[in-house]
This record gives sequence, structure tokens and C-alpha cells, in this order.
Amino acid sequence: MNSCDIYKVSLGINSYKIFIGKDIHKSITNYISYYKNYSRTVVISDKNILEKNPSLFNKYLKKQIKFDQIFLPQGEKIKSFKYLELIIEKILKLEVDRDTLLICIGGGVLGDLVGLASSLILRGLDFVQVPSTLLAQVDSSVGGKTGINSKYGKNLIGSFKQPKSVIISTDILKTLSKRDINAGYAEILKYSFISDKKFFNWLVDNGKKVISLHSESCVYAIKKSCFIKSKIVSIDEKEKGMRELLNFGHTFGHAIEAITGYKEKLKHGEAIFIGMYLALKFSAFLKICKKEVLEKYTSHLKNLKINYKLSDYNIRISQERFLRHMRFDKKVKNNKIKLILIKDIGSPVRLFLENEKLLSNFLKNELK
Ligand SMILES: NC(=O)c1ccc[n+]([C@@H]2O[C@H](COP(=O)([O-])OP(=O)(O)OC[C@H]3O[C@@H](n4cnc5c(N)ncnc54)[C@H](O)[C@@H]3O)[C@@H](O)[C@H]2O)c1
Repeated sequence: MNSCDIYKVSLGINSYKIFIGKDIHKSITNYISYYKNYSRTVVISDKNILEKNPSLFNKYLKKQIKFDQIFLPQGEKIKSFKYLELIIEKILKLEVDRDTLLICIGGGVLGDLVGLASSLILRGLDFVQVPSTLLAQVDSSVGGKTGINSKYGKNLIGSFKQPKSVIISTDILKTLSKRDINAGYAEILKYSFISDKKFFNWLVDNGKKVISLHSESCVYAIKKSCFIKSKIVSIDEKEKGMRELLNFGHTFGHAIEAITGYKEKLKHGEAIFIGMYLALKFSAFLKICKKEVLEKYTSHLKNLKINYKLSDYNIRISQERFLRHMRFDKKVKNNKIKLILIKDIGSPVRLFLENEKLLSNFLKNELK
């Protein structure tokens, strides 16, 4: 076994391990319990990953296992009913049985889709996540949320389906575009804001190294993020309380993604940078946090040359449209929008918006 760190997501019989190492994709089966008990393996990835990293499939995987492979197009558009049906039909065509293992090698988009397919086919097939983007390594591959989008909103159709293991190999990131690396950084920064001021201070000193994929710093940020997420998910798998904190920036962010139509123009992580900016600005507007907290966020991103405003992405949204989409988000309860706001770095608060007018006024000012 290559050297790696191991974290556990403790969920009774659905518990699993997250393995984090430099090049553990070269020996994937070492990190899958009882691999020999599976009748067959189907590897699912996207065409872009195959093109950029053919050795992943043709060299390392082929050396270890016999498998069928399916490659989908890349992009947020595949988180749709159309591609859910397509992937399910492709897998069923292989005449799979219930002892089939699905291995998903991809970013958050593919992981969300394959996770959902795995929860539906034959009422549930085992699946393993091999996240291949920074965002998937620090966030989406852990925690078992699967889903596709609807025209009414982001991730509105989905299930909870925990993987059998998560195999994080940081060398896989070497072929990732700069834009996708930066997008992944959004979720890393999120963890610092919702749970750990020291981690934020560390990011201020080391963020540049993380997004340059400087080995030690990047591995540290991935480990820290997985540690925080695995703890939260172990306490609250189905998002009845604490897990909601992970939605910091997402109620604003998901609305922006839905409005812009899940296009390449704005990646998920980029929407989350804007979403966190708006959530912090709204926190300051409501006097929940001091302006300095917002300033720390913006100056850190300026320093990293990462955009965080709607105007940076040439996006214009009316206040009415923005609010309508925020109301459609899953985080609405009893007709009240639920927001994760920030008191101080590391101290989040949940807020049920009693007076929507406050948000409406804030957006009016912000979007003009
Ligand atoms: N389930 C969850 O808990 C959760 C959490 C956060 C985000 N998400 C979801 O994750 C999605 C965003 O994921 P993402 O940012 O990984 O985007 P993505 O999956 O679209 O991947 C981004 C791009 O990187 C390419 N790529 C992937 N791995 C590569 C590699 N190693 N080398 C070169 N190119 C590679 C892909 O082909 C794609 O073009 C969103 O749909 C979001 O809703 C889910």
C-alpha cells in the first residue's frame, strides 16, 4: 500500500474511509474493502478526463482490474434527467447484477450524477468515489449527497447515498485547469469561515501555494477540509442541523447558478465565491458581523486574484429574479428563507429570515 492518511465518516453500517495520498490512484483496489467479492466493475468518467489523463485508465486501472468503462461528456449539463437516464441505460445494458461495483473517477458533477444512478439501479449498487478535481476532493466526494438539477433550481432531485470509500490522489490534479483549481478553493475557504479561524489565517499565508498545487500545502488543505466535512457528516448525515452550515454561500450561489443556466460561463465554485461574498455582506448589513470580516474575505481573494463579484463575471440579475430563485432553494422552510451567515470567521449562524424585505432591500442595493 502506498502511504496515505485515512479519515473515517462514521455512519453505522454506512461508515466508510477517506484515503488521501499522493499517487494512490495507481493502486485503487487496495482502498476498496472486499474488492474481490464484487462480480464486476464499471468505471465511469468523463471524456475530458480521459483525454487529459489517459494513463489513468489505460495504464494504472487496466493493470489492476478488469472493468467496463463509460465516458460521459463533461460539464454541469450532465446533471440532468437526460444524462441520468442515459447512464442508467448504459449500465443496465452491461447486464449488471447487484454485486456490481461502480467506480466514479471525476469531478463533483460526475460524482453527483453517478452517486444518484448508483442509488437507483437495482435499488442500489455500491459505488466508490475517485475525485479528480480539487472541489470534489475537498467537498463533493464526501458526505453522500447526490443529485441533478432542475429548471427550478440546483440539486433539487437527488438522494443520500454514501460511497463505499473515497480515494483521493492528489497527483490526479496535475492536469486540472487553473480555473477549476481556483473554483475548488471556494469550498476550502468555506470550511475556514464556518469552522476554523486558525485555518483561515493559515490560508491567508498559504492560499497561493494551495492554488499552485504546491504539494505539502495543497495536501494539508485537502486533509483539513475532509477532516471538517467528515466530522460534520458523521454528526448530521441527512442535514437536519449542523450539516446546514456547509451551505454557507450556497443559497445565494445556487440561485445565481440556476439563473445563469448552469453554463460554463460560471462554474459552481465561482458561484460560491460570489455567494459567500453576498452572505458576508448581508451579515454585515444586518450587523451580525463587523465589516472587517467581509474585508478579510475580499482582501484574501484580491491577493489570490480570484473574482468574487457578479460584475466580475459580467452577470446582471434583477432583485425580483434573484429572490424568486432563493425561495426555490431547498433551504426554505415554512416559507422562510434559511441562510447561513457569519458572526466572525469560524462562527457561523443559521438565520430564518422573518422579514424578507431586509433581503430584498439588500439585493436591490447590491444588484444595481
Ligand atoms: N454532493 C455534494 O456534496 C457537493 C458539494 C459541492 C459541490 N457539488 C457539486 O459539484 C459540482 C462541481 O464540481 P467540479 O467543480 O468538480 O466540476 P466538474 O465536475 O464539472 O469538473 C470541472 C472540469 O474539470 C474536468 N476535470 C475533472 N478532473 C480532471 C482532471 N484530473 N484533469 C483535467 N480535467 C479534469 C472535468 O472534465 C470538467 O470539465 C457542482 O455540480 C456542485 O453542485 C456537490
